[in-house]
Amino acid sequence: MRPSSSQQVEVGGEQPYTVTVGAGLLGQVRVPQRHVALIHPADLPPAFVKTVQAALSPTVTISVPARDECKTLAVYTDVLSRLAAANLPRDGAVVGLGGGAATDLAGFVAASYLRGVAFYTLPTTLLGMVDAAVGGKTGVNLPEGKNLVGAFWPPRAVWCDVETLSTLPPEVFREGAAEAYKHGLIADPSLLARVLSPEFQPGGPSLKSTLADAIRVKADVVTRDPTERGERAFLNFGHTLAHALEAHTHHAVPHGEAVGYGMHYAARLSRALGGADLTGHTLAFLRWQQPTPLPDLTFDDLWPYMARDKKADADGVRFVLLHDLARPYLGRVPEDVLRREFAGWQTDLIPPR
Ligand SMILES: NC(=O)c1ccc[n+]([C@@H]2O[C@H](COP(=O)([O-])OP(=O)(O)OC[C@H]3O[C@@H](n4cnc5c(N)ncnc54)[C@H](O)[C@@H]3O)[C@@H](O)[C@H]2O)c1
Repeated sequence: MRPSSSQQVEVGGEQPYTVTVGAGLLGQVRVPQRHVALIHPADLPPAFVKTVQAALSPTVTISVPARDECKTLAVYTDVLSRLAAANLPRDGAVVGLGGGAATDLAGFVAASYLRGVAFYTLPTTLLGMVDAAVGGKTGVNLPEGKNLVGAFWPPRAVWCDVETLSTLPPEVFREGAAEAYKHGLIADPSLLARVLSPEFQPGGPSLKSTLADAIRVKADVVTRDPTERGERAFLNFGHTLAHALEAHTHHAVPHGEAVGYGMHYAARLSRALGGADLTGHTLAFLRWQQPTPLPDLTFDDLWPYMARDKKADADGVRFVLLHDLARPYLGRVPEDVLRREFAGWQTDLIPPR
């Protein structure tokens, strides 16, 4: 699989696996299992599906609805029935091809069909590569909320074919870059300039190496904390406000843009609590990302969602904050500071680009 031009990232833990980042991987993918179920979203460029079919000769290929429309219990049970109808055996494999939504669904199918079969992923979005494909979280949504049902089921291998990123709309590519930039802020500051560089684009000369280094940050964190008992929470930098923005706007603000906005709020909170001033970095990212301008918002619109954040404990809400670049911590912020910094954050965003 073109080892010379591909980059490899190792994910450790009880079931270690390798993430390969390279060009042209879709056509070269091989798995040891004889029987394979290939799961992909219906709107994926058909050439991707044909290329993987030619490489793997799957027993069954299942097309699922696009985006989070596939992350429902109804689609999940339908896919399970189709695997059973195709007699996919216990020593078969599920291969998820597509963005994070399709690979989350495919992983949960793999985790539960016949009490678990081998799982492989071929992520085709920037977010899918930098975030969703690494760490073993799989699952579907409930009407009550996102990702409420699922399992930790690590893939046996991940192949990130950078050529697939060329068909992503540019704004979707820039959206996915938020997680790579976040990895720069929390762990590898060399990524900050590299993500904003003109070379970091589909077909760009530094795409593979920057992507591999961004993936390595998550790989290292999940290796040390596979089930989110400690430092894995740092990957949530910017996500407390981001999840609130997504929920309040019913996802009119896409995830990666919400994370871009949320990182700037978290940088302001960090500075307010005595940390280094990293707001120049987070504003530079927003200028580069050019997110959709936000609707009119008040702190009280978002606060109920932030208060329900998964990092909250019996003593209240906790934020991922930064003492400095690559020095994250989990901290509490007094409500008056949250409100004051929210006002400053809004002022910073006018104009947001
Ligand atoms: N498991 C995890 O750890 C984890 C982490 C982060 C996000 N997620 C999940 O990932 C999902 C979001 O993933 P996403 O941002 O990749 O979006 P997505 O999976 O919703 O994909 C967006 C759309 O782009 C299409 N698409 C995918 N690749 C394409 C390509 N190369 N060219 C053209 N179109 C393409 C998809 O078919 C889809 O319709 C959410 O459900 C989120 O919960 C999971």
